[in-house]
Amino acid sequence: MSTGWTLFIVIITAINVVGATWLMWASSRRAPGEKAPGAETTGHTWDGDLAEYNNPLPRWWLWLFYGSVVFSLAYLVLFPGLGSWKGTLGWTQEGQWQKEVEAAELAAAPMFERFSRMSFAELGADADAMRVARNLYANHCAMCHGSDARGAIGFPNLTNADWQWGGTEDAVYATIAYGRIGAMPPWGEVLGPDGVEEVVAYTLTLSGQQAPADLAAAGEARFQMICSACHGLDGKGMQVVGGPNLTDDVWIYGGGADMIRYAVLNGRQNQMPAQLDALGEQRVRLLTAYVLTLAPPQPAAEPAASPVESTADEGEAEATAGVAADAAE
Ligand code: HEC
Ligand code: HEC
Repeated sequence: MSTGWTLFIVIITAINVVGATWLMWASSRRAPGEKAPGAETTGHTWDGDLAEYNNPLPRWWLWLFYGSVVFSLAYLVLFPGLGSWKGTLGWTQEGQWQKEVEAAELAAAPMFERFSRMSFAELGADADAMRVARNLYANHCAMCHGSDARGAIGFPNLTNADWQWGGTEDAVYATIAYGRIGAMPPWGEVLGPDGVEEVVAYTLTLSGQQAPADLAAAGEARFQMICSACHGLDGKGMQVVGGPNLTDDVWIYGGGADMIRYAVLNGRQNQMPAQLDALGEQRVRLLTAYVLTLAPPQPAAEPAASPVESTADEGEAEATAGVAADAAE
């Protein structure tokens, strides 16, 4: 805070304290208890005979007031209250917070000590661990992925088996700890208007949607040349670069022609913020275990399918994964 503002605050505060004290002192100079000769009134009367008496304030009330003045002066010396004055006790909001955090960490240490010796699978099955993880999720993840973890447009759904960056323990841990940056460059200039329409048509057919056959056929070669670098030759995605699977009905932004065209023309960028520095390893491990309990286990092998039949196959794969999840419980 600048010196000017500090002076301003100090002066206003001083005027207030001194002014109020003087007012109180001046208006109570007649010793309390010392009866005025005859009953002194303010001279106001209502309804003919209702008079307002002017009696001194009770002594206890006055002392209470002077006491509060002394308290406020002591407070303003000890604690930061006057502009940039830090107070002689050196108290800060951050310091207080830090102390409370340290106390909480100390209390939680034995619990985290136990968690640190458990595997992700054991954590996922541990009621205490998952209770802590659910709170962490609500505080640090829900604002983007939703309180039910089903995501929103631009924020991936964490409850399905469709992983943009991989669903193994290591991959999910790395996603949460170090963050991820999904970056697709725009292709409008490279492809030209016709090329864009062809590629959009072919991409639609990947997920079994309707598209003009001649356009789609022309788009296939372009897709193999450009898009496959990140989405795979079969369009099923590449988790190393975060290229999403384009052959299922799970979309980050939307699978209609408009949304696909938008992605091709403008590219798509998004970021999962790294959590390791803020949360520490133990909490990131808990969140990893939690996220892994949300999604059905990864199917052992991707069913080989031609693009057109992929929607049905994906449904089957999910159903199988669901059964596997039930069996595992
Ligand atoms: C500021 C918003 C934001 C917050 C907060 C956030 N995420 Fe994310 N998360 C994203 C975005 C965006 C992506 C997709 C990144 C991309 O486009 O590549 C993502 C991706 C992920 C993925 C990868 C999903 C996949 O399919 O591979 C996981 C797992 C994940 N987040 C878990 C978490 C957890 C756990 C937390 C809480 C600690 C969290 N996220 C907090 C925005 C967020
Ligand atoms: C350099 C790698 C790269 C190339 C090349 C690339 N993409 Fe992408 N694409 C990505 C990434 C990464 C994302 C996810 C962006 C994010 O996380 O927000 C993505 C997202 C998309 C999406 C949105 C998917 C959804 O679920 O909503 C579509 C559609 C898409 N790409 C189509 C294409 C097409 C068609 C081409 C070829 C013209 C192409 N991409 C070329 C990396 C690439």
